[in-house]
Amino acid sequence: MLRTHTCGELTISHVGQKVTLSGWVQRSRDLGGMTFVDLRDRYGITQLVFNSDTHAELREAARNLGREYVISATGLVAERSNKNAKLDTGDIEIIVDKIEVLNVSKIPPFTIEDNTDGGDELRMKYRYLDLRRNILKNNLMLRHKMGFETRNYMNNIGFLEIETPYLIGSTPEGARDFVVPSRMNPGEFYALPQSPQTYKQILMVAGYDRYFQIVRCFRDEDLRADRQPEFTQIDCEMAFVTQEDILNTFEGLVRHLFKNVKGMEIGEIPRMSYADAMKFYGSDKPDIRFEMRFEELNDLTKNRNFKVFDETELVAGICAKGCAEYSRKQLDELTEWVKRPQIGAGGLIYLRYNLDGTLKSSVDKFYSPEDLKLWAERFNAAPGDLILILSGKAEKTRKALGELRLEMGSRLGYRNPEVFAPLWVVDFPLLEWDEESGRFFAMHHPFTAPKPEDVPLLDTDPKLVRANAYDLVINGSEIGGGSIRIHNKEMQNRMLNLLGFSNEEAQKQFGFLMNAFEFGAPPHGGIAFGFDRFCAVFGGADSIRDYIAFPKNNSGRDMMVNAPSTIHEDQLKELQIKLNLTPQK
Ligand code: AMO
Repeated sequence: MLRTHTCGELTISHVGQKVTLSGWVQRSRDLGGMTFVDLRDRYGITQLVFNSDTHAELREAARNLGREYVISATGLVAERSNKNAKLDTGDIEIIVDKIEVLNVSKIPPFTIEDNTDGGDELRMKYRYLDLRRNILKNNLMLRHKMGFETRNYMNNIGFLEIETPYLIGSTPEGARDFVVPSRMNPGEFYALPQSPQTYKQILMVAGYDRYFQIVRCFRDEDLRADRQPEFTQIDCEMAFVTQEDILNTFEGLVRHLFKNVKGMEIGEIPRMSYADAMKFYGSDKPDIRFEMRFEELNDLTKNRNFKVFDETELVAGICAKGCAEYSRKQLDELTEWVKRPQIGAGGLIYLRYNLDGTLKSSVDKFYSPEDLKLWAERFNAAPGDLILILSGKAEKTRKALGELRLEMGSRLGYRNPEVFAPLWVVDFPLLEWDEESGRFFAMHHPFTAPKPEDVPLLDTDPKLVRANAYDLVINGSEIGGGSIRIHNKEMQNRMLNLLGFSNEEAQKQFGFLMNAFEFGAPPHGGIAFGFDRFCAVFGGADSIRDYIAFPKNNSGRDMMVNAPSTIHEDQLKELQIKLNLTPQK
């Protein structure tokens, strides 16, 4: 080995030992007759000392070491006179008597420091340099621990990890498929799985009643901070279970990860129906680190000649504690904020509950102090609070108010990334009506079963049918989702019909699954967690990119290897593919 120890492990107990370390030169500095070099590897940093009194030539060599040179250094461990409490190895240094340069390095295009000077694209291009930085190293270590603890937990409760194929036929999960042409079957394509959904269900039919897999999924969709075109799921399925069994089993996994990765005990995870989440938080993934629930005011605001409120479907608001002192300017700025197209509110009405007990609103013209008092009571407001009210079409208003709630939560410091508030959202609707295409879409996916008691509604009012479908939300981020599945051919076919598939189309695309259902399919259900998102939430970050070793940028490109790219004419020929591209502007 080119080292006896790592750069992170030497302490005062090693003083006097002869050691060899190998690593990268983080920085070097001269001080009088000495040169100090910080040597870095994955485990830490150790200070090397080169003394011109005893080793003049060596010291000269040390002065010529550039940043990120790879070296091996041998010497004696000595106690430092100037200790550095910030470093694990800060009590010691190595008095070097031999170095070997194992490789040189060009000057890196950005500094390999916690606060680097490199922009996003540059760091993506030189990802191997970025990965040397502590922040990414710690993220990947967290990810490793999450995966390791997941396997540990799942193994202990009898789950088998089984791999499913990546070259498959299309499974609709709401996004576009990435496709791969087949050379041996010209004109035919595989699809990369958006998830192993149908395979895991087939595994249930095959009798593997507790399956899991930490698995890559591929979705060709617009990218955001919490979305990558290839991402990883902890994918799970169980047979002979009810929704309750699934929630309990995976609450166990969530608890295990909090305990063993974050060292935190979380209590029982609360549950909220989808209907309540939308009504009180305007979102199917509420951040419940803070309350600030919506209150509705329609009954208190009507018939006072204020047309805006009289004619609207919903008047609802939130109460921001201690914000009554917001200045006119701050309120104007907030009004502009809700009017931005991303939020889409028409305007913002406020009610200040002043510290002296008086009430002041932006609609005083229409409402008496007694009216305003009733509003304040609805919010349980206290002197010093500020009530912010939006109105309009119910769904749109709730959504905008949900955004405002999150914004106020952030401004008030209620969204501390070190505080964790997991939540199960349950009873999702089975179907979602799409105005544009004039048809139903599956809210989760087409394999989700309706609640048995709601099945009669499938014929009369499909919109009202609820599913045994659930999401795990942590701090406002959708970490996982799953459902109890259909395990009966007729019901699956009926469901696909509702989604616009003819019997023939259903058979063509999902015949394999429906046929399997005819050979003794057990009742089953499952869940999949977004592994990258789980890691990012644990790390206190919004973006998943830095929890993935080699992510894609916002246009889906791998900047390091420059993919996607064109392929050779011969490859196209072999695949019998002829390109007919319209020139890109
Ligand atoms: P769903 O589509 O809800 O369910 O996905 C499960 C979880 O995967 C994560 N996720 C993503 N993470 C990063 N980038 C993406 N593009 C991305 N898309 C989804 C989310 C999400 O909650 N087969 C079903 C699961 C089941 O029913 O068992 C499925 O895939 O955290």
